[in-house]
Formats: sequence, C-alpha cells, structure tokens
Amino acid sequence: MANQIPEEVIEEIRKSNDIVDIIGEYVQLKKQGRNFFGLCPFHGEKTPSFSVTQEKQIFHCFGCGKGGNVLTFMMEMENFSFYEAVKFLADKSGVTLPEAGIKKESSMSEESQSILSAYDWLTKLYHHLIRFTKDGKEGYQYLKDRGIENEAIETFQLGFAPNVKDFVAEFLTKKGFHQQLLVKAGILSQQNDNDVTDRFRGRVIFPIRNHIGKTVAFGGRSIADQEPKYLNSPESELFQKGKLLYNFDLAKKNIRKENEAILFEGYMDVISAYQAGVRNVIATLGTSLTEPQAKLLNRYVETVVICYDGDRAGLDATYKAAKLLQKVGCGVKVANLDVDMDPDSYIQKHGPEAFKNKVIKASDTYMSFYMRYLKKDFNLKIEGDRLKYIETILKELTMIESSIEREYYLRELSNEYSISFETLTAEMDEYRQKRGIPKDNQQKNRYTNKTNITHRNKKLLPAFYNAEKKLISYMLQDSYITDRVQDEIGASFSVDDHKIIATHLFAFYEEGHSPDISLFIERLNDDRLKQQVVEMAMMPEMGDISEREINDYIRIIQNESNDSININSLKEQQKLAEQQNDPLKAAQIAMQIIEIQKHSKNTN
Ligand code: GTP
Ligand code: MN
Repeated sequence: MANQIPEEVIEEIRKSNDIVDIIGEYVQLKKQGRNFFGLCPFHGEKTPSFSVTQEKQIFHCFGCGKGGNVLTFMMEMENFSFYEAVKFLADKSGVTLPEAGIKKESSMSEESQSILSAYDWLTKLYHHLIRFTKDGKEGYQYLKDRGIENEAIETFQLGFAPNVKDFVAEFLTKKGFHQQLLVKAGILSQQNDNDVTDRFRGRVIFPIRNHIGKTVAFGGRSIADQEPKYLNSPESELFQKGKLLYNFDLAKKNIRKENEAILFEGYMDVISAYQAGVRNVIATLGTSLTEPQAKLLNRYVETVVICYDGDRAGLDATYKAAKLLQKVGCGVKVANLDVDMDPDSYIQKHGPEAFKNKVIKASDTYMSFYMRYLKKDFNLKIEGDRLKYIETILKELTMIESSIEREYYLRELSNEYSISFETLTAEMDEYRQKRGIPKDNQQKNRYTNKTNITHRNKKLLPAFYNAEKKLISYMLQDSYITDRVQDEIGASFSVDDHKIIATHLFAFYEEGHSPDISLFIERLNDDRLKQQVVEMAMMPEMGDISEREINDYIRIIQNESNDSININSLKEQQKLAEQQNDPLKAAQIAMQIIEIQKHSKNTN
C-alpha cells in the first residue's frame, strides 16, 4: 500500500492546492468566522454542517463525521486511489510527478480504463478529421452553417465520424483495442457474430465529458435527415445520463463565480451560448432533469436559470425541472423564449447581447413563470375557471418564504383579476395555516446569518474524555505543549485512540516537523484516527491557552489514569480477599473503590 511518491512531492502538491479552492469547486462555501461552511457533499443535508479551515488545510463534516485533508477529499469525492488523487492535484497545479518507481494504482477496473483510453483516442481522431481533413469536410461545413466557429470546435473538441463502415474499427484495433471491448463501450455496433461496424457514421460528434473532463460517451448528430437526429453512446459504468450534465467540467468554475447556472436541453444550446460569452451553461443529456443532477447543481449554486425550448413540451419540462430543483433546495428562475425558439436559434437570430439581456437577465421568477404556465389549464374568461386558477396560485404562493415576495404576487393577482388584496391575503393565510406554516415567518434561509450547524454526539461525555480531546487539539497546533505533555504524562491517556494519536504526535514533532495538521493526518494510516484528529483540530478555539488550562487538563487526565490504576489494583485485591474467604476485607475494598469512583466523578 505504501506509496512511492516522494514525500516532498506530495508536500508540494498539498501546498500548491489550497483546500478551500479545491473543495470550492464542488461545494458552495461561505465564510463564517475563521471557517468556511457549506452543504456536505457526502451526505444529503439542507443546512450546512460541512466545514473547511484554510489555516489548517482540513475539512470536517459535523453531520456525517467525514474529514481529512485535500488528498483525502479528492479520494472520497472522486473515488480516487491515493495515486489518482495525487496525480489529479499535480496536474491541476502544474507539478510534475516523477515517473520512475511509482505504482499507478487505479480505482477503476482495467476495462473502464481501456474504454476511457479508446474514447480519448477517438475524440482526438474525430476532431482531427473535422478540423483538417477532407473526410471531415461535410461535418465542418455543417457546423459553419450553424454559426459554430473554430474556437468553439476546439473547446468542445467537436468532431466528425465519416460515413464509412469500419473506419474506427480498423483504427482502434490497430492500436490494440479488443473488438468486444469496443462493442461494449458503444463505439462499435454488432449485428451478428462476425459483423461489427462503426456505431457513429456520417455524424457530427459531440464528446460528452464527465465532470473531470474525460470523454465517457459521444452524442452524434446526423447532418442529413438520418434518424435518429441524435445518436448517443449507450449507458455504461462510466456513462450514466442521469448523473452527468453536459459541459459541467468547463462550466463549473463560472457557475461558482456567477452563483448561477443556466440549464439547457441541448448540446447545441450550450455551445452557442458558450460562444456568445455565456459560460455558466450546462445541459441534460436528452432526458428530463433527474434528482442526482438537481442535487449536484444545488451544491454549486443558489439559483438555476432554466432555459428550455419555448414550445409546449419545453414548458412542461421546465415545470418539472423547476419543481425538482426547488425540492432539493435550489432557487429557480425561468427564461422566457418565444414558442418557436430554442436558445441556440435565439442566439443565431438576435445575437449574444440580446440573449444575455433580454433572455437571461430578464428571466422570470418561478412564481411568474408558474402563473403564466398554469393559464394553459384554465379558460380565464369563465368565472369558475378564473377562481380555480386563483386558488391554485394562492396554494403555490404559500410555499414562498419571503413575505415581501408573497405580497408582490398577491398585488399582481389583485390588480389583474380585480379581487381585493385583503381578501386574497386572508385566503392565503388560511392555506398557510392549514399547512402548519407559522404566521410570522421565522424559518431561515439557507445562508442567512443563523445557519444551524448540526453537531453529532450531543451526549455528555466524562470530563477526562473532553480534557484529552482538548489537550490533543492544542498539541496538534503547538509542539511546546506537546513536549510538556510528553514529559509529564507521556501517552497515558485513557482513551486508546488518544494514546495512539499522542504517540504519533510525539514522533511527528521529534522528526522535526512544525505543527501541520494536514501533513500529520497524511501520515496516519488509519481512517478512524484521521477522522478523530480532524474533529479535534476543528474544535472551536479559545485563543491562546493559559498555563493553568494546560495544567488542569493534565491533572484531570492524570487523576483518571491514577484512579483507574488504583481501581484495577483494588479490584485484584478484592478478588484475592474473596478467594481467601475474607468477606469483610472484600467489602472494605469495595467501599474504597466506590469512594474513588465518587471522588473522580466530582472532580471531573
Ligand atoms: P439541434 O436540432 O441540433 O439544434 O438540436 P437541439 O439541441 O435543438 O435538439 P432538441 O431540442 O431536438 O433536443 C435536445 C436534446 O435532446 C439534444 O441535445 C439531444 O441530447 C436530445 N435529443 C434530441 N433528439 C434526439 C434523438 O433523436 N435521440 C436521442 N437519443 N436524443 C435526442
Ligand atoms: Mn436546436
């Protein structure tokens, strides 16, 4: 298991990848005091209990207990092996890993690694064809006709699969890939035992990259009238449509920066918008938005702007996506496109500026969209329908937390349908009451000043336990305190894990290291210990510790350990007395034990 990557190199990689930046690519972090908080990516939660400290370069979740340094984070988050985490961060920060003598363990099966490699070759081949060869000319012309420039072709690594039966089959077999693997990967199609052909023929290729930028599938668009319009790779271990979002890897930086993501239905919409300078753009992969996708977005942004086609199907899909996003806690806005438009055609027709200002910036709130959307179900010229419509809107309005916002829509309804504002308010209050929503709006939003940090382990623990944890938390930050502890009590902590951690810590400082929690946990090979160290390192600080406080902790720990030594020896004497048939002596000893236990409870 030992990694042969030199420690200095790992050290350099850790130093050049700030944990707040790296985690910030996955989790929306907000600064609160000295720490950053966000929604834990490892378990579902609605109030942030996941914290990161920049100073100590570690993270910890009070909800699920996961914690560690930047390398541990990447391993957990991406299911990386240690080597893959190191490699990933090295690439990110431009550090070169020494090649010699390193075991490149992978978290992926060999088959998946081969499939990724095949997709990688093929992405490059298709792209080369479209950019520079006669074989790709048709595809190139198609993209040009649709207004796609070279820069976007490069960025999205667009390509062309020529209409040849075994172009790819031949290319990849020559490279040593097995035919059956390529069939499984969805790169080749098998009609019967011997007849294997290229899956994508005469199509423009849209490589579908996972969130770390590796191509895991293709979408192929026909350039003639070949059916289907889009042909995708089949699902596989590496490619699950419901879990990926098109262009997420490139968009995520911008998504975080803008605190907003724009969600499309089509690859072409993404590419057009990107070319128009709108970069926080992603799309589903030909299916409705799924819950995992919604949750993924919710981890990154507060608001998603849904920008689907303006037709009936687009509106229905918008409504469904909006509901799902709200369910997972995400704010929603809705871009309003004309019936016969999709985002790509809008940009081609009206240009980038109009798209930014008249579509994205002018997006409706969810409620405005809903009021518009709902009209389809009612004939508002008929009084009965009108009332039902208003009733439905009022019910939806009860869900809105902000009273200002609620009032705004009530006024709008009141004006539009000439019903008094007071009547509408009274009606809505009634619905709210039925749902058990308190009158005064006291619920807190996701990131108001008072986020509830949920702490695990609320039960009361004995004083020596807390003293040990406190003392170790200081020892982690201060080699002088560690020295004193080593001199005075050594590793005679009562909790076994604390003993082990203290012993490691003595060794760590003896090797000449300065306090460095992130490096320290790197050297512990037990996950449980790592988590404990992180938890202790995250304990709230009271500023500088006083001499008295250290003494107190040491004394409590000493007493506990003396007491337990005493109790153990008394228990032995008691047993002996019982064996010797001396019940009086045994009873006396029992009294002594109780006395010590009582006394230790009082002082602790
Ligand atoms: P263009 O016609 O090239 O502009 O595509 P579009 O993005 O406008 O496509 P459309 O709105 O028809 O569909 C949106 C998305 O649905 C596409 O990007 C594809 O992911 C998917 N899709 C569309 N047609 C098909 C199809 O025939 N088969 C499959 N599997 N997916 C499709
Ligand atoms: Mn289109």
